Amino acid sequence: MEHAPVSPKSGHQAVVVLDFGGQYAQLIARRVRDLNVYCEIKPYSSSPESLSHYKGIIFTGGPGSVYASGAPLCSPGIFQMGIPVLGICYGAQVMAHMLGGMVQPASAPEFGKTTTSFEIGSPLFEGVPQSVTWMSHNDAVAQLPKGFSSCAKSAHCPVAAMENRERKLFGVQFHPEVAHTEHGSQILHNFLYIVCGCTGDWEMNSFTQETVEALKERIGGRKVLCGLSGGVDSSVAAMLVHRAVGKNLTCIFVDHGLLRKDEGDLVEQVFRQEFDMNLIRVNAAGRFLDKLAGVTDPERKRKVIGEEFIRVFEAEAVKLGRVELLCQGTIYPDVVESGTGQAAVIKSHHNVGGLPEDIGFEGLVEPLRDLFKDEVRRVGLELGIPEKLVWRQPFPGPGLAVRIIGEIAPDRIETLQNADAIFREEVAHFGLERQIGQYFAVLTGTRSVGVMGDGRSYGETIALRAVNTTDFMTADWVELPYELLGRVSNRIVNEVPGVTRVVYDVTSKPPATIEWE
Ligand code: XMP
Repeated sequence: MEHAPVSPKSGHQAVVVLDFGGQYAQLIARRVRDLNVYCEIKPYSSSPESLSHYKGIIFTGGPGSVYASGAPLCSPGIFQMGIPVLGICYGAQVMAHMLGGMVQPASAPEFGKTTTSFEIGSPLFEGVPQSVTWMSHNDAVAQLPKGFSSCAKSAHCPVAAMENRERKLFGVQFHPEVAHTEHGSQILHNFLYIVCGCTGDWEMNSFTQETVEALKERIGGRKVLCGLSGGVDSSVAAMLVHRAVGKNLTCIFVDHGLLRKDEGDLVEQVFRQEFDMNLIRVNAAGRFLDKLAGVTDPERKRKVIGEEFIRVFEAEAVKLGRVELLCQGTIYPDVVESGTGQAAVIKSHHNVGGLPEDIGFEGLVEPLRDLFKDEVRRVGLELGIPEKLVWRQPFPGPGLAVRIIGEIAPDRIETLQNADAIFREEVAHFGLERQIGQYFAVLTGTRSVGVMGDGRSYGETIALRAVNTTDFMTADWVELPYELLGRVSNRIVNEVPGVTRVVYDVTSKPPATIEWE
């Protein structure tokens, strides 16, 4: 199958982040892109040949000690290529260790804000005064490799940074990518522009234009099909393709009846009415509910919905006749191969875009494969997609099914939709919409006794969940204002029939997951 992700990056200078398993690989790549240099992430084990076209290489931090058995180390050939390297934390220790220096447990491990002074004359620290850096390490470079000198120090770390200017190899013990490092952005800027000689040719503004042109060329007169979920990724991908080929794109929006209140109508209104796209909305709630009748097991729910989704989609695709290409909203974090092993599968995620290979397309069109989420949002706004959709929070493919514990029935869906809508309204009212990563209501399936009027009631319990997260792998519950919680609770028990109790979920991930099922 033809698989050329249309990408405008060809021709742009690029820097690569080698992921040694630290938690900041994506953050580093984002920071670099913010400095107008295109940046990708690759595993630490990448071969030197596969890296030869990059202007610079950044090693991330990592979990352990370079001396631990099985500790991730890169190919030694990377240091011989003449490409500048910046090692961060564990990455700096890898550099020191592999080039003949020595790493040892630090005399005093440093965690957190640390005052650091920088060597005047080091290209990495040009214009950077003594200031706070963010440290997080047990080990430190105890003996420099040959040809290196120390170029920064803190109270407990004589080698807070090291350099071999001639070979353009640099290592920093602190984390320039995190906001707590006062001049971190300047340090990365110096590495990119002074050391690597980048010119800053990656601009999000040119992305839309370049991508539309590239899509026109690649697609030509062929017909494209897109599964639209109403989420930001598939919406932006579809809009880009629509700009390029207009009515040769058809979008199928499967409404499984498990969307949030009024969401299906919003998607239809935006894409069909405002943008005049070929949009087929399949109202399949009945089909899905039939298949879900009596199903209470979370994994089974996911499977049923995933399968049914594909059946509905296939049936519609067949009706359209010959369609050559499939457009998907895959984004960079979906494709990036991380440095160390993958986490265990906790839930079988169902992605609305995850369609079967055997529908028989000639190829895939994935115009967002190179972008991070917030970059996708920027493109979406540029394309004129309404903020409501661009800032739509992540929503699981199986929809409200995984937020309704126990059996799924029309009345329970309605109860949850109404409670969830109130929660969202109040969060917006408090101006917190964009400050919370994800928030929603859950119908817990727990019944409890209440008193309403003069009588006893016995109704459902709604749980509210609000989390902040950077990567959805870990998450913290949000300390919502009591006033907000109070208002939401009050409104839900008064306005949503059948609910007698509202609770707030104060569990982080891990050990809990974000969704309840
Ligand atoms: P969990 O519950 O695993 O969720 O902590 C992590 C993130 O993934 C979303 N999620 C899904 N997204 N299909 C999706 O596209 C799914 O089946 C699915 N299940 C969970 C969840 O909303 C959260 O943002």
